[in-house]
Amino acid sequence: MKERDLMSILDYETVALDDNDNSVVIIDQTKLPGKTEIIKLHTAQEIWDAIYLLKVRGAPAIGVTAAMGIYVLAKGIVEDMVRAKGVEPDYENFYKEFVKQKDYLDSARPTAVNLSWALNRMDRVCRQAHKSGRTVAEIIEILGKEAREIKEEDIRVCQAIGENGLSLVKPGDGILTHCNAGQLATCKYGTATAPIYLGQERGYGFRVFADETRPLLQGARLTAYELYSAGVDVTLICDNMSAMVMKNGWVNAVFVGCDRVAANGDVANKIGTSVVATVAKRYGVPFYVCAPTSTIDLNTATGEDIKIEQRPAEEVTQMWYQEPMAPEGVKVFNPAFDVTDHELITAIVTEHGIARAPFEDSLAKLCKK
Ligand code: MRU
Repeated sequence: MKERDLMSILDYETVALDDNDNSVVIIDQTKLPGKTEIIKLHTAQEIWDAIYLLKVRGAPAIGVTAAMGIYVLAKGIVEDMVRAKGVEPDYENFYKEFVKQKDYLDSARPTAVNLSWALNRMDRVCRQAHKSGRTVAEIIEILGKEAREIKEEDIRVCQAIGENGLSLVKPGDGILTHCNAGQLATCKYGTATAPIYLGQERGYGFRVFADETRPLLQGARLTAYELYSAGVDVTLICDNMSAMVMKNGWVNAVFVGCDRVAANGDVANKIGTSVVATVAKRYGVPFYVCAPTSTIDLNTATGEDIKIEQRPAEEVTQMWYQEPMAPEGVKVFNPAFDVTDHELITAIVTEHGIARAPFEDSLAKLCKK
């Protein structure tokens, strides 16, 4: 048996940096669970495609990929200019190209705020370093450090979300989750799965229900896969079964991740999340959103201001099927995310604490910490 066959999916890094080869290294998540393929991203086009095609996905993982990506591209900008002119580029020329590449990466997906959050943070670091008199070579080094720090921070933040989330449930509880807000969507632990993983380490014996999550099956292909690999008691259900399992009394709490939290507590997450929240309200099940503060966007007032990504019709009509399962040419509506109204949310669990209504106040306070 090859060494790779003995590894669990949780032994792989979701996103990593290969400094020698100047690339971002990811697991191609479109191939999971059938095949664990590790791919290297060198160019702006490869990084953009990997994000757009969901080879790497999940708000925090997209942020880390973008941060590492812009660092890789920044190194490339300098190398290209040295090759062309024989001298290190001056800051103005370097920064002009840096901004072009950053804006391009930022255009890959619109809903997850972590993408622009991470790129803006890298931009800020670049400008500050220049202001304090650093050379372009030194700026590159600082960018590399920052990209690595964003990844390490993600791990610490997810662990803290896990601790806070764990305080909301008790041993033996049934937990339902939607999409994949797991380790594969972050650099470790996940957000919605962090309380589950910490509970697993501490013998809580949770029973987890994972929605399959149409149309791209992140729940079936990724969440069920990673939780099952970790030995968690996980049951896969179709998206239209959440009402039944909640009505049966099998679910004590819902934990989901999110892509953007508006200032009023409205939350954008994978399409179908708001259905789960509505059903949870009907059956009196607490609905918890797990979010790093980097996903909270106080500049977006309400859910109505969040741009929702629309994706190709083929994802609904034929992807995963041997032949198309819809009449050719039929109208398809395929938004990747929906907005859950804050009234349906019991609490938003962050690394700094748990926010409850009124969310305007509680989120603003948490973001100041
Ligand atoms: O389209 P995806 O797979 O990127 O959607 C992912 C989600 O909706 C996750 O729930 C969200 O990004 C949070 S990940 C911790």
